Amino acid sequence: MPNILPETMKALEITEYSGESSSFRFIEKQVPKLKEGQALVKIHASSINPSDLMFFRGLYGIKKKLPVVPGFEGSGTVVGLGSASSSLKLGDRVACVAGYLGDGTFAEYMATDISNCIPLLDSVSLEEGAMFFVNPLTAYALLELAKNKNSTGVVQTACASALGKMIIRLAKGRNLPLLNIVRREDQIEQVKAEGAEFVLNSSSPNFDKEFIKLSRKLKINYFIDAVGGEVASKIFQLSPAETNMVSYGNLSEESLNIQPGVFIFQKKTIEGFWLNFWINSLTPEEFSAHSKEAQQLLKSYFKSDINKRFKLESGFEAIEYYKNNMSAGKILIKPED
Ligand SMILES: NC(=O)c1ccc[n+]([C@@H]2O[C@H](COP(=O)([O-])OP(=O)(O)OC[C@H]3O[C@@H](n4cnc5c(N)ncnc54)[C@H](OP(=O)(O)O)[C@@H]3O)[C@@H](O)[C@H]2O)c1
Repeated sequence: MPNILPETMKALEITEYSGESSSFRFIEKQVPKLKEGQALVKIHASSINPSDLMFFRGLYGIKKKLPVVPGFEGSGTVVGLGSASSSLKLGDRVACVAGYLGDGTFAEYMATDISNCIPLLDSVSLEEGAMFFVNPLTAYALLELAKNKNSTGVVQTACASALGKMIIRLAKGRNLPLLNIVRREDQIEQVKAEGAEFVLNSSSPNFDKEFIKLSRKLKINYFIDAVGGEVASKIFQLSPAETNMVSYGNLSEESLNIQPGVFIFQKKTIEGFWLNFWINSLTPEEFSAHSKEAQQLLKSYFKSDINKRFKLESGFEAIEYYKNNMSAGKILIKPED
């Protein structure tokens, strides 16, 4: 059967990097034409992540020519291939991410490099696939890096996030001591329900004293941080000597303020983590093995709760809703709904 595709599709576009409602528009545009090495994915669902919120305002590590369809992550079915591929065929269900250039997942169709698509195991639904690429692979990578650094205990911030909850479950499964930091009292019960044993609230007046005590007891020497700013700077400075900090997010949008003495006299170190760089550091065989392992954990350690689903034309409403309910689960945008 020939694959008949429509000429045009519905999409959400941004016209400027302001994040304001006036910068979004719901439009009809050409279904993308495939280039060599690309796949055309009919999008089933796309998830909204903190990276999208940064991108809308021009603050993310990738800035594209405007106007552009945003959305970094999604899932769908392969309906076109720009060249023969040994890893993908028409009809495959895939998790996919947008490339550094061109339109993203908040549309009915997206063209992206074949290497940006991961075929889904039969056991994985398309909704689970829409939340697979970014968070599960990052949680997996962060704890692989902790293992490679012979980490004896880990502290993480923003642990009520979807990714933070994955780290809680995975660390527990690996018997890795984990100290979890939330910023609100009501998040404590939420993360305990995921299996967190040690939780501190960074807003509590006793935080510093309790952190010093628990971080020594748990032999913390690895700090994974998604918050940046004052909270991360304080945790890093209060952590035991020789702690290695990995900065992988900046939810506070504030700078770190750290005394040089912690590097000089306490042998502490800081490095960054970006999933794109981690994936590029792997051979295709390693990436395929890690992503298969991570997919097998999608119903357990890497489960993401879905808070709400929105239609594509309500995309801006979905984004506003997500901003105000980040700890309550992921928001999916679904063109077909
Ligand atoms: N570097 C990478 O490659 C990479 C890959 C994946 C994810 N990430 C990062 O991982 C982090 C979590 O992503 P996610 O998708 O799991 O997020 P999510 O589920 O949307 O949750 C975001 C969480 O961050 C909390 N938060 C927001 N602003 C905060 C602040 N200023 N201080 C402390 N906590 C704050 C929210 O708590 P409230 O409910 O209190 O607002 C919520 O629990 C993000 O920073 C994201 O950019 C990085």
